[in-house]
Amino acid sequence: MATLRIEGGRPLAGTVSPSGSKTAALAAVAAALLLPGTSVIENVPAIRDMAVMEAILRHLGVPHEPTGARWVIDGSRLGSWRVPPELAKHIRGGLLLLAPLLARFGRAEVGLPGGCVVGPRPIDLHVKGLTLLGAEIRVEHGAIVAEAPRGLAGREVYLDFPSVGATLQLLLAGVAARGCTVIHHAAKEPEVVDLAMFLARAGARITGAGTDQVRVEGGMPLQGVVHGLLPDRIEAGTYLLAGAATGGRVRVSGVIVEHLRAVLAKLAEAGVQVETEPGLVEVSAPGPLQALEVTALPYPGFPTDLHPPFAAVLTRAEGLSTIIDVVFANRFAYVEEFRRLGARVTVESGTVLIHGVPALQGAEVWAQDVRSAAALLIAGLAARGQTHLHGAEHLRRGYAEFESKWTALGARVTWED
Ligand code: EPZ
Repeated sequence: MATLRIEGGRPLAGTVSPSGSKTAALAAVAAALLLPGTSVIENVPAIRDMAVMEAILRHLGVPHEPTGARWVIDGSRLGSWRVPPELAKHIRGGLLLLAPLLARFGRAEVGLPGGCVVGPRPIDLHVKGLTLLGAEIRVEHGAIVAEAPRGLAGREVYLDFPSVGATLQLLLAGVAARGCTVIHHAAKEPEVVDLAMFLARAGARITGAGTDQVRVEGGMPLQGVVHGLLPDRIEAGTYLLAGAATGGRVRVSGVIVEHLRAVLAKLAEAGVQVETEPGLVEVSAPGPLQALEVTALPYPGFPTDLHPPFAAVLTRAEGLSTIIDVVFANRFAYVEEFRRLGARVTVESGTVLIHGVPALQGAEVWAQDVRSAAALLIAGLAARGQTHLHGAEHLRRGYAEFESKWTALGARVTWED
């Protein structure tokens, strides 16, 4: 377990840019395995999930060259349809390899996924969707085993919840299937649109990505592509929230402002000054903040991944704030830890209640997943004195170039082991 020492109580100030989106990067690698040619993915974030994905490519015998943020993947040769549990368990994104491996081999075996501790993470929507498209799926010895010896066939699929992962999975499967696939109640997240753009460049016919009904004409001839990933809106949002929580002034460049709309609206409602230009957001929070109600929802609603970091901002807002998370209803790993820092926060009937306090106090805290780690980092930076954040290695799963970016904002952070 790695520990980060945080010297808190100083307003952050400076300019920083997010790396490419984590979710989009994982999906793009899966897409590259669908194409019988060479793909170039640009703006790949240097995060731990991508290191695991790289190890998976090696295991599958896929020729590839990850040079910094530019990954070249030759999808023409795949040596195996098996992603072993010891690799798959580290990331949720490995699940997305089911569709391309099924498409290429008629079978796929992917170890049950791991990923962040944010409550139950079922895979039923992936399984239901792929089954409708003709795959036979069972779980055996800790792995998902899928078979479609006669290939996949397009169908109408309704998702019970607009799951990002299941929508990405069905886009990939739909492109490989014969005939037309329609995904109803699809996720509208920008990362879904990014994957659709990647696939469209490769020759796929997709309409409606970014709406709740996505249509894919499958079976088109595909070729390798060059694709630049969209900026990571969650990483960008984390810097803005850190600026707000510390009473500082933070600029984030290289963003798509529209993707941050819900977060910026809530920051403004709390009394944070928000200024935007195309590709740029600046927040400053010199004065007191007001309490408010937040509900985390599928896009374009407030993003669940910024729920814990936003809670850190609300610890200093005057009055009673509430947070409900509709996407991950039990995303409360940060709550106990915030209390160690002197925050007045509880959970009642699935709602987080935060009574603002004048200041947090540094303490020892423990992170269990990447976004609770980000929340504790922000809270530690806002708190008076020193905070020791244990489990800080989780930050490596979502925040590329961690040291240089946070130092550019004036954060005083030191790894202790
Ligand atoms: C992606 O997870 C992200 N992960 C998550 O980020 C993010 O929180 C989430 O999307 C929502 O935006 C990656 O990209 C690797 P979902 P994903 O399927 O696709 C339920 C982070 O902190 N569900 O949209 O797995 C599920 O339990 C991570 O960076 C089913 O019930 O999320 C959840 O309640 C954490 N059955 C809801 O849907 C399924 O088969 C949304 O999950 C799949 C999901």
